[in-house]
Amino acid sequence: MEATIVILEGDGIGPEVTAEARKILTAVADRFGHTIEFDHQMIGGRSIDELGTSLPDETVEAAARAEAVLLGAVGGPKWDDPGMPDRPERGVLALRKSLDLFANLRPVKLQPQLLSASTIKEETLEGVDLLVVRELTGGIYFGSRKEADDNFEAYDTMVYTRPEIERVVRLAADSAMERNRRLASVDKANVLASSRLWRSVATETLSDFPELEVEHILVDAMAMHLIRRPADFDVIVAGNLFGDILTDEASMLAGSMGMLPSASLGDISNRHELPLGLFEPIHGSAPDIAGQGIANPLAAILSCAMLLRHSLGLEEEAAAVESAVDSVLAEGVRTPDIAQPGSETTGTEVMGDLVAQALKAA
Ligand code: IPM
Ligand code: MG
Repeated sequence: MEATIVILEGDGIGPEVTAEARKILTAVADRFGHTIEFDHQMIGGRSIDELGTSLPDETVEAAARAEAVLLGAVGGPKWDDPGMPDRPERGVLALRKSLDLFANLRPVKLQPQLLSASTIKEETLEGVDLLVVRELTGGIYFGSRKEADDNFEAYDTMVYTRPEIERVVRLAADSAMERNRRLASVDKANVLASSRLWRSVATETLSDFPELEVEHILVDAMAMHLIRRPADFDVIVAGNLFGDILTDEASMLAGSMGMLPSASLGDISNRHELPLGLFEPIHGSAPDIAGQGIANPLAAILSCAMLLRHSLGLEEEAAAVESAVDSVLAEGVRTPDIAQPGSETTGTEVMGDLVAQALKAA
């Protein structure tokens, strides 16, 4: 198979973790006889500095031509000034929107060896294996807004339309059918009109899936259930803002954000009958540890597994990456974020090398 993958290193630890991810994709290509071309493009803070924009047209064009996009992370204190006309985060939001990547998949699967790294009690975590599907190109992120130019009044608008809700709920339902057939749809229908539409469209859409066990849960209650009984959930579908908040919360079940991958998918493209996807770790650019070679590359590496599975249709290759990660963890190899206090730790590059070796040896 031949594929082009656009790599957007971004800021902070982005370049360090994407370098390891690229290493793994190269190891996969070698082992399984594929040809993968890498096309490095700019996004985020460094792009603002060097090109004057957080998202150059060339990046969008390259991404639209490619089979998949791998992103590190964007942002940092250097670009945090609220008076700046452009922000690194705008680059990511605009890329999601221009590629119409409406479904953000954030699986939270716990590595048994890492249960003690979480702040939640081990018995509560047993059996946690959930997938949050977050709507990514609508809602309050993209509704009309007014900045407080007068320093007095500002607003953002939460807008959803029927087709936007339907397509993401359908994708979540399809995923639930392939998993444990339970789906929780999250809203705030007791207060928000957009949530009442969400609930009614979700109910209608899900009537096509009679095999699914469906619940509608208010977002505040969901925030509680996620830490009280996380193992009860299978697939959770939520709007853009609620999904953003709940996935940060859910990531803490896994102990470290350094472990969790994500995929943002668009419509099935007619080129290869697989959706174009943007794959990224859910962690940020971690400016506090950037350049030290200690960032955990596993979220970026596991994002490559999602890339192979969802955008290239290479299930065996995806599973091989995941089991290589499992075997390295089973040997006790740990970056600082997942290590027991006082125990020996491994750096970013060595972690990447070990996963690549495990992949070749398997
Ligand atoms: C995320 C991030 C982004 C979001 C930011 C960086 C714009 O928090 O991917 O979850 O809010 O979507
Ligand atoms: Mg977020």
